[in-house]
Amino acid sequence: MLKTLRLKALNDNVPIIKPEAEQILIKELQSKRPKNVVEIWTAIWYSSLIIWNTISEWNWHLTTFEVSYPSYMQAIQNFYTFKQFNITAYNIDPLLIKLEKIFTEKIDFLFIDAVMKLYLDFYLKFQDLLENNCTVLADNVVKFKSKSELLYKFLNENQIEYQIFEVPPNDGMMKWEINKNW
Ligand SMILES: C[S@@+](CC[C@H](N)C(=O)[O-])C[C@H]1O[C@@H](n2cnc3c(N)ncnc32)[C@H](O)[C@@H]1O
Repeated sequence: MLKTLRLKALNDNVPIIKPEAEQILIKELQSKRPKNVVEIWTAIWYSSLIIWNTISEWNWHLTTFEVSYPSYMQAIQNFYTFKQFNITAYNIDPLLIKLEKIFTEKIDFLFIDAVMKLYLDFYLKFQDLLENNCTVLADNVVKFKSKSELLYKFLNENQIEYQIFEVPPNDGMMKWEINKNW
């Protein structure tokens, strides 16, 4: 089903996660074994499916956000096609809502794959809801470094250590972990 959905995304020009980034996402999920995962933007459900596929071995929940209504509708269609559970999908921009109203538990894995210039805004919006040791993974931060420079500046100024995993040919995924002792 992943192959079918990837091919469909390629045909329809949907910017889904690259295969190399997909492997990084899987590896990080397997190593963290998170229980409460948040994904910012869903697009048509591909990376949601990857997350579901990986974390469904244990007790978990995925909350995913998609801002575009047509994309959200495609995602919901795929959600029903692939018969998944423990997932909450919102057609809303999380920057515009009171997150405390929808999250009753702390988040331990945040995957940001959205508009690069808003990466820092997303992180700051979710910051208080992130558990200590929560993993934050942000895609496309090398190719579009200039668009996510506010995030780099924030991390550097706050001496927050981050890692960049290479995603060939010229991109990367950034990871950092929440340490409430900062
Ligand atoms: C980087 S993508 C998210 C990809 C997703 N995390 C994945 O890897 O499957 C972000 C955006 O893709 C957008 N998008 C752009 N072109 C699209 C298209 N042709 N069909 C559906 N969604 C599209 C969505 O609105 C979404 O907000």
